[in-house]
Amino acid sequence: MKKLSAAALLVLATTAYAQPYDNSMTEDAIKKRLAPIGAVYLEGEKAAAAEPTGPRSGEQVYQAACFACHGTGALGAPKSADDWAPRIAKGKDVLLEHSINGFNAMPPRGTCMDCSDDEISAAIDFMTAK
Ligand code: HEC
Repeated sequence: MKKLSAAALLVLATTAYAQPYDNSMTEDAIKKRLAPIGAVYLEGEKAAAAEPTGPRSGEQVYQAACFACHGTGALGAPKSADDWAPRIAKGKDVLLEHSINGFNAMPPRGTCMDCSDDEISAAIDFMTAK
């Protein structure tokens, strides 16, 4: 009798556990179990993870990398149109060169180390046009 109730408990416990978790060996069930660990895709299928789809826009780079200083004026970073005017007068080439290599408290590439020169340039255009 004792053995029987232990077995019954075991059955109860395993069925309760098995309810939300399909541990059968059907292909669908296996796929489901694997899915959250590493989404598998076959050649020709759309990649599950977002791949870079080309250069980021000036606004995207600005929001991600430049805003911390240029949106707040931190460290004296030019923020308003008035701040920008005398800098724009230096010419875009100078601004781009200073952005890529750094300029006083302005860090090289505005800390966006994976930004291409074109992306930095687009971010400058976005900032100086505001
Ligand atoms: C850690 C703060 C910080 C970040 C992040 C930052 N900047 Fe700056 N930036 C500055 C400061 C401070 C200056 C002013 C430097 C000076 O004139 O001494 C500046 C100046 C500039 C200038 C003017 C340079 C000149 O010659 O007058 C440009 C252009 C510029 N930043 C572009 C960017 C771009 C593009 C990004 C993002 C990709 C960025 N910055 C991110 C702090 C920052």
